[in-house]
Amino acid sequence: MAIEAHGGTLINRELRGEKREEALTKAASLPTLTISAWTVSDIELIGIGGFSPLTGFLGEEDYESVVSRTRLADGTVWSIPITLAVTTEKAEQLSIGDEIALKGEDGVIYGTLQLEEKYTYDKELEAKKVYGTLDEAHPGVKKLYERGDVYLAGPITLLNRPDHGDFTAFYKDPSETRQMFNDFGWNTIVGFQTRNPVHRAHEYIQKSALEAVDGLLLNPLVGETKSDDISAVVRMESYQVILKNYYPEDRTALVIYPAAMRYAGPKEAILHAIVRKNYGCTHFIVGRDHAGVGDYYGTYEAQEFISQFEDELGIQIFKFEHAFFCTKCENMGTAKTCPHDKEYHVHLSGTKVREMLRNGEKPPKQFSRPEVAEVLIRGMQEQEA
Ligand code: ADX
Repeated sequence: MAIEAHGGTLINRELRGEKREEALTKAASLPTLTISAWTVSDIELIGIGGFSPLTGFLGEEDYESVVSRTRLADGTVWSIPITLAVTTEKAEQLSIGDEIALKGEDGVIYGTLQLEEKYTYDKELEAKKVYGTLDEAHPGVKKLYERGDVYLAGPITLLNRPDHGDFTAFYKDPSETRQMFNDFGWNTIVGFQTRNPVHRAHEYIQKSALEAVDGLLLNPLVGETKSDDISAVVRMESYQVILKNYYPEDRTALVIYPAAMRYAGPKEAILHAIVRKNYGCTHFIVGRDHAGVGDYYGTYEAQEFISQFEDELGIQIFKFEHAFFCTKCENMGTAKTCPHDKEYHVHLSGTKVREMLRNGEKPPKQFSRPEVAEVLIRGMQEQEA
């Protein structure tokens, strides 16, 4: 039996066929709001059910509840407020009860919003509660501070999914991944979130988990990330290369997660787990500093935080300690499995790895598979050319 969607029902807010045509014709004469790529990805995820049980952008009661107690107003665990911000001037032009066309910066109408509420919010409170810091240097906090001062709320309807270009072949919505797991005969599936190329540590924890379940869903986030993260195009190539060379084809699937990265550490770990549950995963990996950035979160803070909600989440969390290659063990391991001193552990910082790749230098094979390093070197050089 497939795992239940979060909140009990897999949401579908997408119109198709004639109804969609009619809605698009109508949308052309509705008041219009231009939305960012980030908001487009939120609408997509609400529409296809990735953010179940959300049916739209959070109203004030849900918003306050999510920010202050990591739950929707009805008590369902939810960690990151999914909101639609506009300027005060724009908000004044829109009235409660309006249906609003949501148009991307590319001119495409992605959906409509049934405006039920407009409310102001406390940015510092949201920064503190969701990101754990008021520091503008935090990429999530920076975004938050740049947003308009009013949130619009109400249910949305998805009318156009964004074009995922080269990634289309790796796009599936949650009902499709659920069907795929069923077709594969997988009863237990571990989901893996990443915004990085798969290095040996990632591979080690994925495969450790895979020893205990039927299948692995490699589910890289390909929405907006900060500018110094490796681009999704290069990463996608690197995932295909590593899967082809080192993973059992019949036990792994690569599907994109089209969301934007919040870098909210512990809070985002919960969102990531919920989304993967909606995609049909029964297990989810939370390793070291999950969804972290800089030094804002403790190494195991995400694991500790998610543990408080684990019983209610309904998806099992595989927690892994910091993994590394040990030159004495001649193997990957963690402090749980390797008895040797740090001096034997191969450790490279992200900055160091990027510097090596930029210089056309492959990181040691204990850190990264050579095939992956080749893709990354080429990608970096093309990006900077
Ligand atoms: S994240 O922002 O998407 O979490 P990243 O792609 O680096 O970043 O991590 C993907 C997953 O692998 C996360 O669960 C993270 O905690 C875990 N992880 C990354 N590196 C290690 C490591 N060396 N040891 C254990 N877990 C790790």
